This record gives sequence, structure tokens and C-alpha cells, in this order.
Amino acid sequence: MAESMEALKTECLTCRRCPLAETRTNLVFGDGCPTAEIMFIGEGPGQREDEQGVPFVGPAGQLLDDMLEIIGLDRSKFYIANIVKCRPPHNRDPQESEQSACIGWLRQQTALIRPKVIICLGRIAAQALIDPEFRITRDHGKWVEKAGVHMTAIYHPSALLRDPSKRPDTFLDLKSIQSKIRELCPNTQL
Ligand code: URA
Repeated sequence: MAESMEALKTECLTCRRCPLAETRTNLVFGDGCPTAEIMFIGEGPGQREDEQGVPFVGPAGQLLDDMLEIIGLDRSKFYIANIVKCRPPHNRDPQESEQSACIGWLRQQTALIRPKVIICLGRIAAQALIDPEFRITRDHGKWVEKAGVHMTAIYHPSALLRDPSKRPDTFLDLKSIQSKIRELCPNTQL
């Protein structure tokens, strides 16, 4: 177990546990505050993230930042990472084998941060972290508690870019996230 996020990142940057390592430009480890009470988890880097080595910096990331600003959140108040750290070619879904090769890094990040609240962005993260049977249309916005961590999922911001009719539901989910943070996260001012 690494003793700091920096040490873990140094180790992770050399990872070759799955074939995505062969095609990446940069590994995308994570961003934000390593002592945050809140984590957001996406599925995997896209083109911009692969180019820059930072999660959620492309169009989906811009939308996410704008939405979170509405509830008073910015990257100084949360940590953000992905299920897989390297870009799947052509932005396809990460395969089960790639997810299981990579998930140990996210588990170590989570163990170092010890968040109170985890928000999954989209189906892939929700199925990996909440329930393999998770259906985003049916289950977004529901809360579960696992090992003392309160978890929910919202539509992936890329889905909101493709289908703006999902945005009102996401706004309600964000208000619920804001309430949960106010209830559970004493060190996070919203
Ligand atoms: N989509 C994701 O799931 N993660 C990113 O980092 C960018 C886009």
C-alpha cells in the first residue's frame, strides 16, 4: 500500500497491467484534492484527457465543471478519477478485463482519501462500484451505503451532451448530492 497519493501516482505511471498501456499518450491518474470528503468517478479518459493526462478536461469535463459550480463544488473540494486510467481506443467502453486490471489503483486512491461520499459518473462506474446490475436510467440518483461510504450515480456528462432531455433529472440528482454533502461532509462548505 502506497503511503501518499504522490507515491501511488509515481507507481501507477509505470503501469503496464493491460493492453491500454500500449496505446495511451498519457496515463490519467486523477485530479483535485487528495484530502477531499467527496470523490467523483468516471469511466475512462477520452482524447483530451489522454493528451493532457488530466481527467475530465474535454467537452464532458467542461459541462461537469459547469454543473458542479451550480451546487458550489470545484476541484479544490473533491477528487476526480476514472475506473480505467488509460484511454480505450476510439472511446469504446473499457472491457471487463481492463477494468479488473486497473481497479486496484482506484481502490488504493479511495483508501488514501477515505471519502464520505462517492458519485459515479455514468453506468460503467456505477456497475463497477455500486452494483453490476445497475441501470443508469432506472437507478440514477438513488443512494446506497457501502462500508460507511454513501454512494450514488448520475448520468455521464457525455450522455447529457448527447441528450439534453436528461438534464432536468440530473439537476434534481445534483440537489440531492448537495444535501447529502451538507449532511455528511463537515469540512466541505457549499
Ligand atoms: N469521460 C470519462 O469517463 N472520464 C474522463 O476523464 C473524461 C471523459
